[in-house]
Amino acid sequence: MLAAYASAVGGDDPLANLAVGDLPAPSPRPGWALVRVRAASLNHHDLWTLRGVSSTPVTPPQILGCDAAGEVAGYGGDAPEGAPLVGARVVVYPITTCGHCAACLSDEPLACRSFRMLSEPPLSGALAEYVEIPSENLVPIPDQVSFAEAACLPTAYLTAYRALFTRAALRPGMSVLVQGASGGVATACILLSRLAGITVFATSRDEAKRALAVDLGAEAAFPLERETTRAVIGATGGTGVDAVVDTVGEPTWDLSLKAVKPGGVVVVPGATGGLNPPAQLNRIFFRSVTVAGTTMGTRGELRRLVDLISTGALRPLIGSTHPLRDAAIAFAEMASGDLRGKIVLEA
Ligand SMILES: NC(=O)c1ccc[n+]([C@@H]2O[C@H](COP(=O)([O-])OP(=O)(O)OC[C@H]3O[C@@H](n4cnc5c(N)ncnc54)[C@H](OP(=O)(O)O)[C@@H]3O)[C@@H](O)[C@H]2O)c1
Ligand SMILES: [Zn+2]
Repeated sequence: MLAAYASAVGGDDPLANLAVGDLPAPSPRPGWALVRVRAASLNHHDLWTLRGVSSTPVTPPQILGCDAAGEVAGYGGDAPEGAPLVGARVVVYPITTCGHCAACLSDEPLACRSFRMLSEPPLSGALAEYVEIPSENLVPIPDQVSFAEAACLPTAYLTAYRALFTRAALRPGMSVLVQGASGGVATACILLSRLAGITVFATSRDEAKRALAVDLGAEAAFPLERETTRAVIGATGGTGVDAVVDTVGEPTWDLSLKAVKPGGVVVVPGATGGLNPPAQLNRIFFRSVTVAGTTMGTRGELRRLVDLISTGALRPLIGSTHPLRDAAIAFAEMASGDLRGKIVLEA
């Protein structure tokens, strides 16, 4: 089958580690399903893997990709009771856990020490014509939802959903600052916040991307400069925002701590621009700020996103779509930072 995979990891030129070619198709084990992937979306996670930054050691060739939507192609052994029929349209919940540790049994599977995402060994990835996944990870999608839009949900939109509504506990009428407006998680945060009646402010390095944030429903979008702190505080009646979602890290951390209101929450799903900003602990304790890490979301949260997209209320922003064989073009786009939301590959 055709697949986009890491043929090596690390080094000076991560994009040179990407290969597109034929690899053996998986054969599902009992309890697992085989999905014929129709659309997969890229995530920064795929670039980190090529760079050699990974939570689990990667042994090439490693098929990349966390997000897949497609049709059920078969099951290993008999289909489990209640599982979608062969041919059914599905999106894949990309996480596996051990299922029996204290975290898994207490319904906190994201804290499981065996947590793995598609493309993290021993799991294969979604940038391929077929992917194997535990049957319980199949989430049906209705006919009116395109494979491309469904393929945006499992990582970027799921992470944004949990960051906003679970970790920051944002509710209608509250406010949020989204750092780095143009990426997959950031555009998901803007769209989901607006849908929930939350006032959104955004930052971006680039003027055109700031205009994009406003088009998506942000109240205002700011460059990363000294005056922005005052502008955000002014725009929130002098208090600061209820929450910040900061996936950027070093370039934005100072603003995150200054723009959040006393007692507010800074949610950190990632750190694309650097892991080690000065912590400024004084700002955290004096102003009772909560710093909340977050990773992905639960199956239930993915189902709620599928419900939202099924009603037509949520339309994920897709900046570009390419055939799987042109994965190198898609990866170059992401690496250059020239983004307008999600990049989709069709298989
Ligand atoms: N914890 C989790 O479960 C989880 C899930 C998804 C993603 N993440 C992490 O969250 C981050 C964003 O992921 P993504 O897939 O949305 O990435 P992406 O689509 O490639 O977007 C990259 C984002 O980084 C912003 N950025 C701002 N300053 C930057 C700088 N100096 N260098 C690089 N980027 C900068 C860009 O904003 P502007 O160009 O508009 O300024 C853009 O929003 C990644 O680090 C990823 O690993 C974590
Ligand atoms: Zn577990």
